[in-house]
Amino acid sequence: MEASKLLSRFEQQYGASPAPVRFFHAPGRVNLIGEHIDYNGGYVLPAALEFGTTLLIREREDHCVRLATTNFEYQLEIDVSALADAKQDQWTDYPIGVMNQLQQSDRGLTKGYELLFHGDIPNGAGLSSSASLEVVTAYALLTLEGHHIDRTDIALLSQRAENRFVGVNCGIMDQFAVAQGKLDHAILLLCDTLEYTHVPFQTDGYCLIIGNTNKRRGLVDSKYNERRAQCEEAVRALQAAYPHMTLLAHLTAEQFEAEADKIADDTVRARAAHVIAENDRVKQSVDALKNNDLIRFGELMNASHDSLRDLYEVSCEELDIMVKEARCIEGTLGSRMTGAGFGGCTVSLVREDAAEQFVVRVGAAYEEQTGLHPEFYICRVGDGVRELAPLAKTAKIDKEG
Ligand code: GLA
Repeated sequence: MEASKLLSRFEQQYGASPAPVRFFHAPGRVNLIGEHIDYNGGYVLPAALEFGTTLLIREREDHCVRLATTNFEYQLEIDVSALADAKQDQWTDYPIGVMNQLQQSDRGLTKGYELLFHGDIPNGAGLSSSASLEVVTAYALLTLEGHHIDRTDIALLSQRAENRFVGVNCGIMDQFAVAQGKLDHAILLLCDTLEYTHVPFQTDGYCLIIGNTNKRRGLVDSKYNERRAQCEEAVRALQAAYPHMTLLAHLTAEQFEAEADKIADDTVRARAAHVIAENDRVKQSVDALKNNDLIRFGELMNASHDSLRDLYEVSCEELDIMVKEARCIEGTLGSRMTGAGFGGCTVSLVREDAAEQFVVRVGAAYEEQTGLHPEFYICRVGDGVRELAPLAKTAKIDKEG
């Protein structure tokens, strides 16, 4: 939705006021490779997308916080002093969770605000619409309250909001990617220490295509927690040989192979084998990108999917069909599921001149085999969370230029 329309919507919702309305934006994210690695302390390679969540926000004279979105009917009005008990099992839990975490880190709201969100990330597609909502709230409130902006701190605070207030046990990757994204760059993040670098993602002649299976992600929370528990079990077993390790990604492939039989349970051993190899694949992917070797990068994407399907078992029929069909297109270098799995999206690296054909042919074959109508987004890698230019200025720039 255009900025001017959003502003009219804001004024319709909250009325006029002399205080300015400020605009903020946080992207969604796609993970290029390094899946189910963040909570195991290894390397991930996500990137911010160009679509995301826009927030319009205005200060109030009192201590009332009002939240609304263009995406859902549900709205909330609450006093700043009542935020801790404001869990509603609604979308508002994400921004309220962030406000709570700000309070708990001595940066609680000193006044009330009016907030209107507008998200253009497909919901429940595994492209981090929730992280985007959290991070844009944190960034905007820290800015308006005059606090120092530290993007890693914003990612951690948003993750805590999700873990503790919303009650989802996610890792750090999504919030970090949304906070630290950079145009045309992927983010190489070591999740154990939060050291990171921006890796140029130059794919001249190729593009990323995200394919939404539109399969509802059933049981994702319980299966996700089960995988985390299996990784912890693998660590406990391997500690017999490596007493100092606390996270699976601390081991090299050689160290793991030498002692893998310490893990008695076949399933748990397979989960650990995925983590060790996937962590390695991320490092190899970065080398491939640095050498401009997109063919190698595509092979690693393919290997990642196969491991998530066979060893980690977080894919599903719909994701596998979409990936299989994507790989049949001449011009696809690699294709894999992205995010937690059990539905959601695939990401494929495709020659630009084959993109149109990809969308038509993969779409038709997928629909025929699953009965579900998929959606495709040809994406560019975008920037992380930021404040947007005030509307009057934007309009002027548009007019002049
Ligand atoms: C979800 C979680 C992330 C990460 C991925 C799997 O997106 O929110 O923290 O664990 O799954 O890589």
